[in-house]
Amino acid sequence: MKKIIIAIDGYSSTGKSTIAKRLAKALGYVYVDTGAMYRAVTLFAIENNMFTSEGVDRENLLQNLDKISIRFAKKRGSDDTETLLNGNNVEDKIRSMEVSNRVSNIAAIPEVRKKLVEEQRRMGEDRGIVMDGRDIGTVVFPDAELKLFMTATPEIRATRRYKELLGKGKQVTYEEVLKNVSQRDYIDSNRTDSPLVKAEDAIELDNTDMGKDEQFERIYNHTMRFLKQEK
Ligand code: DC
Repeated sequence: MKKIIIAIDGYSSTGKSTIAKRLAKALGYVYVDTGAMYRAVTLFAIENNMFTSEGVDRENLLQNLDKISIRFAKKRGSDDTETLLNGNNVEDKIRSMEVSNRVSNIAAIPEVRKKLVEEQRRMGEDRGIVMDGRDIGTVVFPDAELKLFMTATPEIRATRRYKELLGKGKQVTYEEVLKNVSQRDYIDSNRTDSPLVKAEDAIELDNTDMGKDEQFERIYNHTMRFLKQEK
């Protein structure tokens, strides 16, 4: 069967990565979490003291961009992948609230986007990839064969994220998570470079009242119908 690119975009905490991972596994495709790449750059800036009370020291970050190497490695004994920043496993650190609160500002910097978009395009050269993010169907792969755009109410997204963070033993409040989700929606949708918008040819999926299995089945069936037509 022909190998295609599947682009999954949408708001924060809409369950993009859960669906993308499951779809990639079912199809035998590579899964790429582009949010993890923006998070890794943010962690690099935090660990190198590039944040001041004014925000990030942009010049300093841009001068050091070529010192940032991001890779994904398979987690031992599981289908999950781990994000490596300059060779170190940072999967847990990049999911902290400290990173979540700063990542949208880092992702709004055009030079950061340029570097990461180039890397993402390289990862998709051979197709057979499911990539999730905010600009995959609009900027990274406007020619992706299948595009999904995921939405849900901010409250349901914050509730899901809050439970996930609690499950990982993180100390957070629901209000803090809801504020972060809403702020990121705003910054991601209003930045000048590659804002979060639905691609014209994307299928929109509002999963406010939908369970994970139902979502997966719909998307998987749609993908299979598409692949069979294309054969
Ligand atoms: O998917 P996520 O929540 O882990 O993404 C973290 C942030 O990175 C998100 O708030 C916006 C940014 N991002 C982006 O601008 N473009 C992408 N392709 C992926 C993520």
